[in-house]
Amino acid sequence: MEKRITIRDIQKMKTQGEKIAMLTAYDYTSARILDAAGIPMLLVGDSLGMVMLGYENTLPVTMGDMLHHVKAVTRGARHALVVADMPFMAYHLSAEQALSNAARFLQEGGAQAVKLEGGRPVAETVRRLVACGIPVMGHLGFTPQSVYGLGGYRVQGKTAEAAAEMLEDALALEEAGCFAVVLELVPAPLAQLLSQHLGIPTIGIGAGAGCDGQVQVLHDMLGLYTDFVPKHAKRYADLAATIGQAVAQYAQEVKVGQFPTEKESYSMDEAVLRELEGRSKLRLYAGG
Ligand code: KIV
Repeated sequence: MEKRITIRDIQKMKTQGEKIAMLTAYDYTSARILDAAGIPMLLVGDSLGMVMLGYENTLPVTMGDMLHHVKAVTRGARHALVVADMPFMAYHLSAEQALSNAARFLQEGGAQAVKLEGGRPVAETVRRLVACGIPVMGHLGFTPQSVYGLGGYRVQGKTAEAAAEMLEDALALEEAGCFAVVLELVPAPLAQLLSQHLGIPTIGIGAGAGCDGQVQVLHDMLGLYTDFVPKHAKRYADLAATIGQAVAQYAQEVKVGQFPTEKESYSMDEAVLRELEGRSKLRLYAGG
């Protein structure tokens, strides 16, 4: 059996100065591809609400939605560490609620860690999960589950006060036992400063090159999700166009009879065919 990446491996990458490339995955097939490509950490992000389910934001995503996708990803990821995102209101009501939902991701979903959004207000919850052996990744800066409270998709920590608050939050998460922390939409110099202050790896998305690692939404980097393209997403492929061309060609070939050919068809024993043709009521069209 292949060796699974652990949170210690991820933390060692920071101490050894090796940058960490993380990607989202929402299904078995993409998890297989990313795993085989050597991506060490996969995030089953609640961004699947937009990318896979067509919601406007992450708020409608439920534990049921998440578990469905976490199970698919963990079936495909044999090597990568799989982090399951705790959806909106799945960890806010009490530490008990958080514990029971996080445990489902590990027990039923097969994930190795969970992620939750927020700083000092969730530190006690983090401590509780970690005490029960559940690895937790934090998430600071722009936290999508608070999109309404934050007044939209905006870069966070731009004033000295907000930046100092973020540093306090980051230190609280580290102290509570998070093994890593996502920094989303954070000015690059601030993210670099946080990365220097923290012993745990920072994983940036729209947070510049000074982070210890990066995470991207797979469908953004592959050019598959085109409803909204954030400034921080680099397009490594244009798969929406590739798929559009492929299906248009398929439809055209079906229309004009170019698909399927013999190559994509199954043959039959000639003698069986002749016997069938010989039977009184049966008139086969094949061969005219
Ligand atoms: O849900 C998600 O994909 C995330 C990343 C943006 C970090 O939380």
